[in-house]
Amino acid sequence: MIRNGHGLAASGHGVLGQGQLALKLEGKVAVITGGASGIGEATVKLFVRHGARVIVADVQDEKGKTLCAGLGSDDVASYVHCDVRLEPDVKRAVDTAISLHGKLDIMFNNAGIVDPSGSSILGEDDTTAVFDRVMGVNVLGALLGTKHAGQAMVAAGRGGSIIFTASLVSVVGGLSPAVYTCSKHAVVGLARSAAAELGKHGVRVNCVSPSMVATPLAESHRQKSVEELETMAEVFSTLKGVRLKAEDIAEAALFLASDESRFVSGHNLMVDGASSVTKTF
Ligand SMILES: NC(=O)c1ccc[n+]([C@@H]2O[C@H](COP(=O)([O-])OP(=O)(O)OC[C@H]3O[C@@H](n4cnc5c(N)ncnc54)[C@H](O)[C@@H]3O)[C@@H](O)[C@H]2O)c1
Repeated sequence: MIRNGHGLAASGHGVLGQGQLALKLEGKVAVITGGASGIGEATVKLFVRHGARVIVADVQDEKGKTLCAGLGSDDVASYVHCDVRLEPDVKRAVDTAISLHGKLDIMFNNAGIVDPSGSSILGEDDTTAVFDRVMGVNVLGALLGTKHAGQAMVAAGRGGSIIFTASLVSVVGGLSPAVYTCSKHAVVGLARSAAAELGKHGVRVNCVSPSMVATPLAESHRQKSVEELETMAEVFSTLKGVRLKAEDIAEAALFLASDESRFVSGHNLMVDGASSVTKTF
């Protein structure tokens, strides 16, 4: 199946014409946590364009519902209120995919938060509260998503793809506050553990790791404009003149979600313009 740039479906197996898109997720069902905003929102839109039916699981109800309503027919994208720290919420998001669409193929554990601006290990923040909040969303939330999606995928016996949004700071320190950095290192460990445990059931597990993307999370944490954030990402990168966008992370998630990556598991896909492996600033 191919689809033109306006989202209209057409059948045919010949050479793709200009503006036509090969559908990489046709017939697949995905849950995307943190899908109402930023990287998650861009991924919801891209997955839908590629033929997936998507459950948007977030705590921003109005944003999530508006996003789904703008994506066309009823069952293409559905919103579920889901605080990823709460196991019943996460289970409900997975159960919704199965009750609406009969299965779950892709779980994108993307919801995330960051420590308060200006946090320091030596600072006066309530360290325990910050730790519980950030690790609760970024790590416990990802673990619960993996548990319930993994159970559904293993029970169905059709394999699946579980993806996490980690970060450039999953492999380097000093660019973000300590708890956030811990959480993203932990997410990579979780992905590797899950890859080992779920691989025997045909479930692949991978991370996508952005550097700086101008989203509401980054804008409010760094207190910088879109322009300033994109400039920062470019400064860290070797790819001068290329601006990293949320859509670039969505494309990486699309690769990990699709059958094109069918032998890729346990991988942390850096989308950082080589920031993690070079020093250009
Ligand atoms: N923006 C960046 O520079 C950057 C870089 C590396 C990694 N990341 C990661 O990307 C992911 C997406 O962040 P973003 O930049 O798109 O930010 P964002 O704030 O635009 O999106 C995050 C989404 O997560 C949701 N969320 C927060 N707490 C939640 C909870 N308890 N339960 C369910 N949903 C919750 C928010 O409502 C929001 O819709 C996060 O995991 C973040 O750590 C972002």
